[in-house]
Amino acid sequence: MSRKLFVTTALPYANGNFHIGHIMEYIQADIWVRVQRMQGHEVNFVGADDAHGAPIMIAAEKAGKTPQQFVADIAAGRKPYLDGFHISFDNWHSTDAPENHELARQIYRDLKANDLISSKTIEQFFDPEKSMFLPDRFIKGTCPRCGTKDQYGDNCENCGAVYAPTDLKNPYSALSGATPVLKSSEHFFFRLSDPRCVAFLEQWTQDGKLQEEVANKVSEWFSPRQNPDGSMSEGLGDWDISRDAPYFGIEIPDAPGKYFYVWLDAPVGYLASLKNLLEKRGQDYDAYMADPALEQVHFIGKDIITFHTLFWPAMLHFSGRKTPDNIFVHGFLTVNNGEKMSKSRGTGLDPLKYLGLGMNPEWLRYYLAAKLSSRNEDIDFNADDFMARVNSDLVGKYINIASRAAGFIAKRFGGKLGEVSGDGDALLEHLRDAMPSLAELYAEREYGKALREIMLLADRVNAYVDQNKPWELAKQEGMEGHLHDVCTVCIEAFRLLTLYLKPVLPALATQVEDFLKIEPLRWSDAAKGLGKGHLIGDYKHLMQRVDIKQLDALFEPPALTEQAPEATETIAPGGEDIAPVITIDDFAKIDLRIAQIVNCEAVEGSTKLLRLTLDVGEGKTRNVFSGIASAYKPEDLVGKLTVMVANLTPRKMKFGLSEGMVLAASHADEKATPGIYVLNPWPGAQPGMRVR
Ligand code: MSP
Ligand code: ZN
Repeated sequence: MSRKLFVTTALPYANGNFHIGHIMEYIQADIWVRVQRMQGHEVNFVGADDAHGAPIMIAAEKAGKTPQQFVADIAAGRKPYLDGFHISFDNWHSTDAPENHELARQIYRDLKANDLISSKTIEQFFDPEKSMFLPDRFIKGTCPRCGTKDQYGDNCENCGAVYAPTDLKNPYSALSGATPVLKSSEHFFFRLSDPRCVAFLEQWTQDGKLQEEVANKVSEWFSPRQNPDGSMSEGLGDWDISRDAPYFGIEIPDAPGKYFYVWLDAPVGYLASLKNLLEKRGQDYDAYMADPALEQVHFIGKDIITFHTLFWPAMLHFSGRKTPDNIFVHGFLTVNNGEKMSKSRGTGLDPLKYLGLGMNPEWLRYYLAAKLSSRNEDIDFNADDFMARVNSDLVGKYINIASRAAGFIAKRFGGKLGEVSGDGDALLEHLRDAMPSLAELYAEREYGKALREIMLLADRVNAYVDQNKPWELAKQEGMEGHLHDVCTVCIEAFRLLTLYLKPVLPALATQVEDFLKIEPLRWSDAAKGLGKGHLIGDYKHLMQRVDIKQLDALFEPPALTEQAPEATETIAPGGEDIAPVITIDDFAKIDLRIAQIVNCEAVEGSTKLLRLTLDVGEGKTRNVFSGIASAYKPEDLVGKLTVMVANLTPRKMKFGLSEGMVLAASHADEKATPGIYVLNPWPGAQPGMRVR
């Protein structure tokens, strides 16, 4: 029976390019989707950008773009990653698309009609300078428990205390530095505490849709219970789903100035992307969703379980919609021994750099697959392990089989396969018998186990080759028939192994299909053989080994002066839009002064900042922190002149007060082309002179 599947991966925030963790999730889902397709099942596999929310709105403002333009620019950069790693999405959309506005508003209306929306006036911190309510992560202050300064509004990184932003001592806005004021506003809530929701979720989360470890975790959240230490955990609370303008999001029906919190409309984006796809194909979305046979499957990481196992199914169920059939949760990927992935130089694994170095995307697919299981454990990308597994398993064991036999078939037998007998037949039988259990392992997302099994099969084939020594048979009189037999077995075994690896190595499989002159391989092809007389093509080497130099280059931090290999061609140094026009009066508001750097030192605890002591001709000095540590040694700056903004509101930073800003230039694509150039006036300028 052919299945009908609707599969998604989590929708990435549109505030940055993909990182290797995203790519891992897509590879995991893509393998699963390909397995289903190879079985003849019908799959719609979709993704989208998660465009909304305060952080994106703020990042857009910083970049001098509208949020729409900002997310469009991010979206424009998605394709090279997805194509590059052979991720077979049928559609990529955006949560800011009209389909999503419409669907999210309709779901809300349905929940409201079902009496599950309430409203309440709450007090929240408001930034009087920016005229906006501050999300928790944009409020900082002193930890009420341990007194550590500059902690986020929801928890303390030093002592781990969890609190409300209003508990902070000396709170300040991370956006403007202003002291926030409490302001009240009406918020809308999804009444998850309603007994109907609790009853539904208790059932829904515990009936086999979730991995066991996930179901166990989730069960702790929604019913009130006693913790091991005797304290009580609250049950499901109502969920605050509204935010006040200014907010980049979807306006709530009949509530001007109120927007859906980003996590309300984000998962609706799954449906919006699907709807957009079906409509492009002329299919009916409602009919598609109404089919009881339809299975809806979401791949996500372990950090967003609550949203997908509580809020999302409840939203769907109580708005009268189909709920997911499975939520497949994976762990986190770390790179080279668990170093936290960071956007800064030298750590992490930049997926585009990987491709730009000419590294084979299927090496990464194979390596990650070999580490993945159905559990939500974290996995690590280790460069040495990567090289060993690709070179010894993938190339050494599997690719080798073809290269050992193909030459003889071409040179000695006109490219035609021969007859298989005895041992060879038994070996092939063994390989064929593995198909159902391999398909099963893949379907259960036990990719690591599947690949281990496949490599054991490859070992068997190599042992067979070693026993029969075709290179010796080729030199012996009268052994033509046996040589033909052995090489035919190798080619047939290679075809089967290729079939089994196809979900992981789709591009390689296509090359092999070409070489063997066969139709695209499907699971059912395991039972069929190529047959005597089948003509195969010329063998071209199918896969290189990983070269250590490539790995060195991949993890080498980009030199400051040297341009990174990718991206720089597409974005010019000045490749960002010129900011909106201002008048000379606007400009006159900015007081730029020549400043002498009388002292400069490193800042303990920061790799980015230097502490500058500046003389701006005021008869006293100023303290300024500047993010230029990557480009200058403190001693090289002492005594130099530069230009500073002298009338900027002083900003409280983690390390002290910053009383101005030093001017410096950088590339529009700072990530690809790092480098910071501090301004330095022509000789003769004096500290304190105004720049105009
Ligand atoms: N926008 C939300 C998801 C909305 S879904 C309706 C979000 N975005 S994200 O960009 O932060 O993460 C997207 C996915 O990438 C999540 O499933 C997340 O778990 C996954 N990963 C992010 N970092 C990861 C690793 N280091 N390793 C593996 N997956 C990781 O959350
Ligand atoms: Zn603390």
